Amino acid sequence: MLVNKALAVAAAAVTLTACGSQETASEAAVTVTAQTSAETQATETETTTTAAETAVTTTAETTTTTVTTTAETTTTTAETTAVTETSSQAETTNGEENMIDFYEVTLPETIIPEVETPEELLPTSHSFTQIDGRTYIDDILIVNKTYSVPDSYDPGGLLPEAQEAFNKMQAGAAADGIWLYIVSGYRSYWEQQGLYNNYYYYNGEETDRFSARAGHSEHQTGLAMDLNNASRYFAGTPEADWIEQHCAEYGFIVRYPYGKEDVTGFMYEPWHIRYVGKELARLLTDHRLTLEEYFCIDSVYAE
Ligand code: DAL
Ligand code: ZN
Repeated sequence: MLVNKALAVAAAAVTLTACGSQETASEAAVTVTAQTSAETQATETETTTTAAETAVTTTAETTTTTVTTTAETTTTTAETTAVTETSSQAETTNGEENMIDFYEVTLPETIIPEVETPEELLPTSHSFTQIDGRTYIDDILIVNKTYSVPDSYDPGGLLPEAQEAFNKMQAGAAADGIWLYIVSGYRSYWEQQGLYNNYYYYNGEETDRFSARAGHSEHQTGLAMDLNNASRYFAGTPEADWIEQHCAEYGFIVRYPYGKEDVTGFMYEPWHIRYVGKELARLLTDHRLTLEEYFCIDSVYAE
C-alpha cells in the first residue's frame, strides 16, 4: 500500500521512501543511454542492489530495460505544513523582473485526506526503452529534469492524440460553461532555450523552479500544453478547478500538482497538462500520483 498525502513536504517524503528502487531505475536508464550512443551489442547489466533485476537487449537504435520494483511500503506521520506567502513575494511590484513571483502559487492551508494506493494497482516492474535519445517508460515518453529529449527531436506541433483529446475536453468544458484554450502547446528545443534564458536573466537559479531547461521541457514532446492563463492568477479559478476535476476523463494529468515540487522538480502549475492516455490519467489522478512517483524515478538536473 502506498500512502500518498497531497500537501507539500509531507507528500514528497512519503512517495520517495515508498520507491524502494528509485536509484536503481535511474542507474539503469543511464547505463542504457551509454550503450545506445556507443552502438554496443546486447549485454546484460547487473545492478548493485537486490531490489531490482535488469535485463537489457540492444538494437541499433532502441534499447529496452525492464526494472523490477519492490513493493516496500512506508507510511508517514508527517504533519501538514501551513502554506504562507513569503515577504519577498508580497513585496513584488514588477511582474517581468520577478517572474518567480508571477508563477509561484500559494494556497491557503487545506487538509486533504490521505489517498491509499493498493499494491495491486501499481506495476511491479517498468519497461525502460531508449529510442534516439528519448526515454519511454511503459511506452510513456518521460521528460523531466533527469530525462531529456535531444534538440533534434521535433514533432513539429502537438501530436494528433493530444490535440484530439484537447478538442474533446474543450467541448466537454464548454458544455459546463467553461472556456478552455491553449496558450502554449508545442515548443521546439530552441524556443524553450530562448524562454529559459530570458527568465534566467531576470530570475537566476530560481528559474529552475518554473521553467525547464532546453531539452527538459514536456512542451517539446507535443504532448503537453498550457491552458488559459499560465500564471499564479489561474489557481483557484473555475477553469482551473474544472481542469483538475475533469482532465483525466480525456487522458490528461495536471503534470505539476500542488505540494509536489520536491518530486516533479517544478512548482504548482494548474495550467500545464500532459497527455498520458485515459487509463493512466485516471489512476494517477485518483491516487494523486505524479509520473515520478508512479515510475519511481527522480527529476534532478545532472549539473
Ligand atoms: N513550465 C514548464 C516546467 C516548462 O517549462 O516546460
Ligand atoms: Zn507548460
